[in-house]
Amino acid sequence: MKIYKAHILFTKEKDHFEVIENGYIGVDDGHVVGVATDDSVFQCPEAEVIDLGDRLLIPAMNDIHVHAPQYRNLGLAMDLELLDWLDNYTFPEESRFADIHYAERMYRRFVHDLWRHGTMRTVCFATTHLPATRLLMHLFREAGMSAFVGKVNMNRNCPEALCETLEAAEQACETMVREFGDADSLVRPIITPRFIPSCTPEMLQLCGKLAQQYQLPVQSHLSENTSEIELVRTLEPESSSYGDAYNRYGLFGQTPTIMAHCVWTEGKELELIRKNDVIVAHCPTSNFNIASGMAPIRTFLDSGISVGLGSDISGGHDLSIFRMMVYAIQVSKMHYQRDKSKHFLTLSEAFWLATKSAGRFFGHVGSFEPGYDFDALVIDDSDLNHDHYSLLHRLERFIYVGDDRNIVHRFCRGREITEPAVIA
Ligand code: GUN
Ligand code: FE
Repeated sequence: MKIYKAHILFTKEKDHFEVIENGYIGVDDGHVVGVATDDSVFQCPEAEVIDLGDRLLIPAMNDIHVHAPQYRNLGLAMDLELLDWLDNYTFPEESRFADIHYAERMYRRFVHDLWRHGTMRTVCFATTHLPATRLLMHLFREAGMSAFVGKVNMNRNCPEALCETLEAAEQACETMVREFGDADSLVRPIITPRFIPSCTPEMLQLCGKLAQQYQLPVQSHLSENTSEIELVRTLEPESSSYGDAYNRYGLFGQTPTIMAHCVWTEGKELELIRKNDVIVAHCPTSNFNIASGMAPIRTFLDSGISVGLGSDISGGHDLSIFRMMVYAIQVSKMHYQRDKSKHFLTLSEAFWLATKSAGRFFGHVGSFEPGYDFDALVIDDSDLNHDHYSLLHRLERFIYVGDDRNIVHRFCRGREITEPAVIA
């Protein structure tokens, strides 16, 4: 067993922080044994005690919606809405991932920068290319970081270079399951129909079948943009909502499912998300940048819907999940100004969304309760802490104005994760 000593902060529940000044956390075989104010409670005198000094120890970040192959487009091309943005900027960039050397250069940079920002768990889209997708999974594995990686499925309304056959899609899935199917592994496949406009009914049916057959989780996009929703209405006229279209193909909570955005979700679709226990990935920066709208997160939480945060690079321009907490709070303050009954998100709620709420998708992740994976960050905020702030104010200042330079140690399932290599 190892025992780490630091100021420990985490959220067991969304409404308040657990704060243990000069606390101890026992870690055995990658998992949290417990948190205490005194190391004698672990009854393990031979345990190594690592004193981290006047630093903050918090759960590591989880990003539950991000596109790895869009990393080169970070911070550019924000002048179009979703459908034109995909055609003009996103699909051309993703087409380049047929080249495995290009893919390696970009994907190494992506994994490195997730590490830099303290994101130890990721649920991401790759592209339709199997070799590049497998490479990305190997890079996460090599780094010791955890990820669900989706080889994207798409076969309509896209350039030839990204269009795949049903046979290729099925074979690729079988390959991924063979290679990465172990349920206890940190890196696992996830069924990834891009969204309804990119997939024929036959492709959606195949995705639902594969999810069921191999018991794989599912990720996609839902009700992000009004023109997209209108298009889905014409493509799936039998469905009562966009979400219902996924549901009819077995892609809406039949296995654990994440749907990104849900900006315009209400009524029957909201009810179906709740009933099927679909997790919403809230991506506030992306929703600003490609002018999609403001997701009603308070309404989702009040309805008992699970929510996590996503950077959604490159609709989003910021890989930091700490900054995503800030944006999520800011969006909720916009809603609040229109309807004072929808109270804006608190810091503890935003922190909980990024840690324990999102972490549920990975198992026992995102908290320091006993049995949880020890996924943690050590924050040295000495350059921000000039004036004897409380521990909670120190954390708040780090979240709002700190950056990756304040993160001095990163752990994933108990292992310290060192800087992954990049190609210059
Ligand atoms: N909907 C379908 N594909 C995408 C994508 O790459 N990014 C975003 N933001 N929405 C999508
Ligand atoms: Fe997305």
